[in-house]
Amino acid sequence: MRLIFMGPPGVGKGTQAKRYSARHHIPKISTGDILREAVLKKTPLGLQAKSFMDSGKLVPDDVVIGIIRERLKEPDCKDGFILDGFPRTVPQAAALKAMLEANRLGIDRVLNFELPEDELIRRLSGRRSCPNCQSVFHVEFSPPRERDRCDACGEKLVQRQDDLPETVRKRQEVYQSQTRPLVRLYEAQNILSRIDGSGDPETVYRRVEGSTGS
Ligand code: AP5
Repeated sequence: MRLIFMGPPGVGKGTQAKRYSARHHIPKISTGDILREAVLKKTPLGLQAKSFMDSGKLVPDDVVIGIIRERLKEPDCKDGFILDGFPRTVPQAAALKAMLEANRLGIDRVLNFELPEDELIRRLSGRRSCPNCQSVFHVEFSPPRERDRCDACGEKLVQRQDDLPETVRKRQEVYQSQTRPLVRLYEAQNILSRIDGSGDPETVYRRVEGSTGS
């Protein structure tokens, strides 16, 4: 399956993509994770992306399109993948379509996760992330076993810079203006499924499996 997981910041698409990836043995490709790792390592990509990310803006299209173009050439993408957080603009969607069509491929399904705004804010404000292995926790909904320590690698958990209240508001605005139009685009192609993102992760995951016919 070649899948896109879309939706506003904090809706839980990363959490669901991780589960789907583990269960179906296809890679989860998150542009957010790739960019955060680059920022952490202070690579040229990271230095270029940091100010956009910290202020809640999108990283320029040519940069993220380049990342995806290279990543999709990796052998683990041969039998499918989940794109988590890409595409996010109309030009990114067009570039992805062209990349896949060049290999006579297409997207099988786009899952658009939905949740009321107050719940999005609640999920983002309580999120804690591992800067080392990118595991994600929530102070209330999925707390780590040991306070502020990653279950997977023991690193001290942090709050993402872009999860601070002002930046969260900016990210929601950016989603509405630049990413939301993709919902209609994929709906018109009859490949969009709307997923109710409310409820615990297992409940949401059952909806994901239902919509992909797994
Ligand atoms: P990115 O990392 O992609 O951020 P995002 O899209 O804003 O999504 P999030 O990671 O915030 O949320 P999520 O929906 O994955 O939720 P999660 O599962 O973590 O991008 C960050 C930045 O990078 C962008 O702002 C931009 O600058 C740049 N960027 C990335 N891609 C780009 C692109 N294509 N083009 C340009 N720029 C790009 O869950 C959230 C919290 O809720 C967690 O704490 C989790 O534990 C909890 N939770 C999850 N599910 C549930 C549930 N069912 N019940 C209760 N709690 C839950």
